[in-house]
Amino acid sequence: MKLTRSKLKWLFIAKAVALFVFACNTEKPKSRGIKISDAKTYEASLYRQNCAVCHGAEAYGKEIDGKMVPSLRFGDIEKRSEEEIFNQIAYGKNPMPSFKGQLTDEEIWRLVKFIRRDLQGKTN
Ligand code: HEC
Repeated sequence: MKLTRSKLKWLFIAKAVALFVFACNTEKPKSRGIKISDAKTYEASLYRQNCAVCHGAEAYGKEIDGKMVPSLRFGDIEKRSEEEIFNQIAYGKNPMPSFKGQLTDEEIWRLVKFIRRDLQGKTN
């Protein structure tokens, strides 16, 4: 089979289409979950009062003193178990303070679910 000019053209187009589809699929979504500033739930107000100063008003992370406070929507947080997230909030991890004295266990669990369900859109 001879590779004619028109076959080459088709090959080129097919490759371009494949690359385009690939690029679209791997592009990270820029937003996810609810808009915290509009939310009227108890969890959202807990977040605004206790967490927004460091993690940002919409939980996309924030730079403080040249260091990045992580996003609670994307990244490493998605790999944590609910237990790990609970412990992080309850006991803190330098420089994040412990919230055990300020929030009840129930409130901390509500924040864990808030991060998973409302911020990351996970249903389990
Ligand atoms: C004083 C700033 C500060 C406040 C307030 C704060 N955090 Fe953090 N938080 C941090 C920093 C800094 C880290 C990263 C710690 C590290 O390097 O491990 C972090 C990490 C986390 C993590 C782990 C993220 C991951 O990728 O595993 C969770 C979950 C979290 N914070 C939730 C909360 C919640 C919920 C609140 C409010 C109740 C809160 N934080 C309040 C500074 C803060």
